[in-house]
Amino acid sequence: MQVTAAITLLVVTATSAVAAASNITYTVVSLQPSNQTIGVIVDNQVYPLSSVSDNWQLLHSGEAPVATSGYKYAVLDKLNTATIVEQESFTRKPVTDDSTLNEYYGRSWNTMNLTQLPTIMDPLPIIDRIKSNLHIDGEIPTIHITGSQSSIDNMHSNNYADLDVSDLNMTYISPHDIKTFENITLAVAGFSSRSLPKLSYKLKIPKGGDGLYGYRRFKLRSMGFDLSYMREELAYAIAESIGLPSARYSYVRLFMNNQPLGLFGFSDNFKNPWPRNTFAGGKKKNFDQGALYTASPNSGVNASELPKDLANITLDQIARASRLGPQDNIDPSKSDLRYLGNNLTEYSMQYSVREDPSSGTANYTRIMDLCKFISEQSNTTSDDSAISLWGERIDVPSFLRGMAFEIVTSQSDAYLANGNNYILYDDLENERIVYSNQDFDISMGTAILNPELIHGGNYTKFPGFLERPLTSRLLAVPQFKKEIGELVYNFTRDLVNPGILFPRIDALYTFIEQDVAWDKTLPRVGNSSLLDAAGANFTFDEVPLWFGINGTVPDPAVANFSMSLKNWVELRSTNLLNFFNGTASN
Ligand SMILES: *[C@@H]1O[C@H](CO)[C@@H](O)[C@H](O)[C@H]1NC(C)=O
Ligand SMILES: *[C@@H]1O[C@H](CO)[C@@H](O)[C@H](O)[C@H]1NC(C)=O
Ligand SMILES: *[C@@H]1O[C@H](CO)[C@@H](O)[C@H](O)[C@H]1NC(C)=O
Ligand SMILES: *[C@@H]1O[C@H](CO)[C@@H](O)[C@H](O)[C@H]1NC(C)=O
Ligand SMILES: *[C@@H]1O[C@H](CO)[C@@H](O)[C@H](O)[C@H]1NC(C)=O
Ligand SMILES: *[C@@H]1O[C@H](CO)[C@@H](O)[C@H](O)[C@H]1NC(C)=O
Ligand SMILES: *[C@@H]1O[C@H](CO)[C@@H](O)[C@H](O)[C@H]1NC(C)=O
Ligand SMILES: *[C@@H]1O[C@H](CO)[C@@H](O)[C@H](O)[C@H]1NC(C)=O
Ligand SMILES: *[C@@H]1O[C@H](CO)[C@@H](O)[C@H](O)[C@H]1NC(C)=O
Ligand SMILES: *[C@@H]1O[C@H](CO)[C@@H](O)[C@H](O)[C@H]1NC(C)=O
Ligand SMILES: *[C@@H]1O[C@H](CO)[C@@H](O)[C@H](O)[C@H]1NC(C)=O
Ligand SMILES: *[C@@H]1O[C@H](CO)[C@@H](O)[C@H](O)[C@H]1NC(C)=O
Repeated sequence: MQVTAAITLLVVTATSAVAAASNITYTVVSLQPSNQTIGVIVDNQVYPLSSVSDNWQLLHSGEAPVATSGYKYAVLDKLNTATIVEQESFTRKPVTDDSTLNEYYGRSWNTMNLTQLPTIMDPLPIIDRIKSNLHIDGEIPTIHITGSQSSIDNMHSNNYADLDVSDLNMTYISPHDIKTFENITLAVAGFSSRSLPKLSYKLKIPKGGDGLYGYRRFKLRSMGFDLSYMREELAYAIAESIGLPSARYSYVRLFMNNQPLGLFGFSDNFKNPWPRNTFAGGKKKNFDQGALYTASPNSGVNASELPKDLANITLDQIARASRLGPQDNIDPSKSDLRYLGNNLTEYSMQYSVREDPSSGTANYTRIMDLCKFISEQSNTTSDDSAISLWGERIDVPSFLRGMAFEIVTSQSDAYLANGNNYILYDDLENERIVYSNQDFDISMGTAILNPELIHGGNYTKFPGFLERPLTSRLLAVPQFKKEIGELVYNFTRDLVNPGILFPRIDALYTFIEQDVAWDKTLPRVGNSSLLDAAGANFTFDEVPLWFGINGTVPDPAVANFSMSLKNWVELRSTNLLNFFNGTASN
């Protein structure tokens, strides 16, 4: 022991005399097979990065001199580290700090400054969100989940079952931070997306500690429906820009043991501590947290029923089976705030409790009372005297903004079109219900419903708008009717148009382009029954990203279902503005 220590000391002294503090630490993320490792080439000299943590198998780090002209990372043969297997195709600028950021092999940037969307409305007064580094715009962190491979395989082969896999570890590596968590829980998430090649997941970090920047529950969204990889990113940014209390969203790269799963959307899930993070600045003390519900029209419907009769099914039928709604009509979903009588069990079948209140348990009386109140309002004529009555029951601006949001972003699977994907929060302080939206994969040009209606300029024809219990009553109040129209117009004029969205789309394109290309090369763990059934004769992975942004979908079976993102933005804003300018034909 003593001898070893003495030698180490000697070496340190000797080298520091020679290379006087000119070494820095290089750190880079890369998944390598066991026969290969990573090195850094500094001014044409190769230095293997010898430290690879057992827990953080993806993270390679080591010392090497500061570069004078530049450096790049290389894959080395582990047995003979002088042999370069491959190297980065670009040179990185010298770093003079003590260490590099946590870089990513093959990506020339660590962080990017992206054009942001403007904030066009103040956040609703109820919002008091914690400051958190969870979603840093312009960074793509890496999440590595490690643990029993057979449990992970089992979860993947039972993708229709709600199998929670616990006792997994997780490492989160962003350019500036590394965090590890033990015993996280992972499960496949979603409904119809379970029939896609790339699966979505939900993830939970156990209680205790600060979680990941104050959050513990997350969604890993596969974007498996989305040729643009941006629809949810933009929709969440729009929801934030108009001041709705929605989740927030960013991108991550995901690995499980030795398997890369690809690029995912990463969002905070509506479970504790989400309500206090969103409505109470993260404080638990003195916050009387109300119950949090989501509409759940699919409860009682087993997603595994979906693929059984898929052999000859059409997209329209899938839409029905997955409660996405028949083409021309609104879906019979009962999770649309209709009054279901005074039996609370009926409500528990249409809404699910995401979180109980801080005292007692969520018992659906608030939902029932709300539905009853709505049903008692006139759906033909009312007057502005009803305004204060509504204000006592609901956070009116949250509902009005939410409805306009659904229309302007062409949501096929939200309250109006489908009685789905919205949250109701019981604001105990004001004793009224707050509304917001979630899960935007079927929106912004990806549609199940009749494209003419869902993208059309006459927004009063938007599926469900005149018929749903809530909107049919709100529209009977002249002031509300006027305000919804104004919101639809304002959101279009100030946000959802080429002038505002294209610069963000172009920035995102540069930002995710390389990761999407990587994502598309990866073996998938799910099945393709949904797309096969739709008659698509290509897989989404064969279609390049630019096509999802700018292209024209060639296959008519898919064209109705998904148009390119920029085509949609142009169509949506042109149609709506023409309608408002009185130049629309419909
Ligand atoms: C600098 O790094 C190189 C390569 O890892 C190593 O051989 C050398 O001893 C280091 N010098 C110092 C001063 O630590
Ligand atoms: C490492 O093994 C893989 C196959 O698993 C092989 O393709 C690769 O060439 C090997 N690398 C080296 C440096 O031998
Ligand atoms: C981003 O912008 C900020 C402020 O303008 C600047 O300080 C920073 O260096 C920029 N970062 C990158 C990666 O361009
Ligand atoms: C998780 O990490 C802990 C601490 O490093 C380790 O003891 C444990 O074996 C790991 N569990 C798994 C499933 O890898
Ligand atoms: C891991 O988490 C699961 C579920 O969250 C729990 O049942 C189990 O006791 C935990 N195990 C350990 C070792 O903490
Ligand atoms: C699909 O169509 C074929 C031939 O048209 C028919 O034999 C088969 O029963 C159908 N399958 C289903 C599940 O409807
Ligand atoms: C309440 O509704 C549930 C579900 O439909 C039903 O099973 C139960 O019998 C109902 N209770 C009463 C008192 O009607
Ligand atoms: C439901 O909970 C509320 C408090 O949130 C309570 O006033 C009410 O009595 C409860 N109703 C039932 C049926 O348990
Ligand atoms: C309006 O209310 C009447 C009576 O409650 C009902 O018959 C009718 O279907 C409702 N219309 C709409 C569009 O909801
Ligand atoms: C729409 O924008 C105008 C400003 O152009 C503003 O005066 C009006 O209050 C906005 N309408 C709503 C409902 O926010
Ligand atoms: C897919 O089908 C469309 C017509 O539905 C056809 O135009 C196209 O060439 C087909 N593509 C492939 C790769 O077979
Ligand atoms: C918009 O649609 C509504 C409902 O179908 C209809 O009454 C109205 O005339 C339409 N407006 C225009 C300008 O076509």
